[in-house]
Amino acid sequence: MSKAVVLGAAGGIGQPLALLLKCNPLVKELSLYDIVNTPGVAADLSHISTPAKVEGFLPADDGLKKALTGADVVVIPAGVPRKPGMTRDDLFKINAGIVRDLATGIATVAPKAFVLVISNPVNSTVPIVAEVFKKHGVFDPKRLFGVTTLDVVRASTFSAEVLGDVSLAPSISVPVVGGHSGVTIVPLFSQSSHPLPKDFSESSLQALTTRVQFGGDEVVKAKDGAGSATLSMAYAGAEFATKVIKALNGEKGIVAPTYVNLNADKEGGDALKKEIGKSLDYFSTNVELGPEGVAKIHTLGKLTSFEQGLIQTAVPELETNITKGVSFVETPK
Ligand code: NAD
Ligand code: LMR
Repeated sequence: MSKAVVLGAAGGIGQPLALLLKCNPLVKELSLYDIVNTPGVAADLSHISTPAKVEGFLPADDGLKKALTGADVVVIPAGVPRKPGMTRDDLFKINAGIVRDLATGIATVAPKAFVLVISNPVNSTVPIVAEVFKKHGVFDPKRLFGVTTLDVVRASTFSAEVLGDVSLAPSISVPVVGGHSGVTIVPLFSQSSHPLPKDFSESSLQALTTRVQFGGDEVVKAKDGAGSATLSMAYAGAEFATKVIKALNGEKGIVAPTYVNLNADKEGGDALKKEIGKSLDYFSTNVELGPEGVAKIHTLGKLTSFEQGLIQTAVPELETNITKGVSFVETPK
């Protein structure tokens, strides 16, 4: 039984994510923090007949500190979402500072908590959290995760559509590696639990891959200025948080793709760096979760030449995104 905290809990993702966590029997306490509206969201959720005790906090009266005290898992969906025409990197200007300040609170109050970062641009906000933790002398790479589960959820859904049987979607598992923006999102359909049809053409594979890479844009466009994915993200965020909580509670054999610091498991991380031909510090890949967080970083395994090409395109952009996050905090060397 764990204490979960949502930072940005009154937002489009925060509210449905809090609802799903309130319904999770492994959550005994749920703290909701935002700069607005959390007392109302908490009061509303508190009437649901599940065990988790819910409390809402605002910045006044040391609210962040109170929300984070005793936290096992902290999920961060705080920050602004995209509008049509924007890239995730365009959000850096506002979200980098928000994430840095929240990370400072976590490093001070709950340095051992598992931190799950949803706020975009994930490729840069995860390094920001790490650098803040380093500054405070409390960084444990095993406990920090960029949430890329929505890419995995999309790959399953879109595969099921291609296979002509949407009922397959929940059982389809496609590793999605790299990062979480455009070309850095690399679905490995050759490793899917449900292979694509034998006669699936190269151009159809390219189209399916592009759909996963730019699935976020599909939602941004459809919402037409009213934000980006919230409900599917809450689903994906709750799914990943549940895996982390289960692993924390001792369940074995849980593997999920997530964007991690490759020093979290030196052996696996070094092998992955060799595979991608670049010494990046962060990459999304299948990770085995354990009670201490990252237990094992899986390498990418056998890739097709098409997938190798996607990785080679992803790496330089990821490198730029990571450097941008790291330099924002300017950890003294
Ligand atoms: P939203 O605007 O609906 O909600 C954001 C919430 O953050 C708001 O309630 C706001 O008050 C709060 N907030 C702002 N500054 C804060 C601070 N300093 N402390 C605490 N809370 C603060 O936005 P949303 O649609 O929920 O999206 C949130 C973020 O998640 C965006 O950056 C978006 O790009 C990202 N996102 C990531 C993924 C992913 O796959 N990782 C998917 C969808 C969205
Ligand atoms: C997504 O993938 O839906 C999110 O990262 C939100 C976005 O900006 O597309």
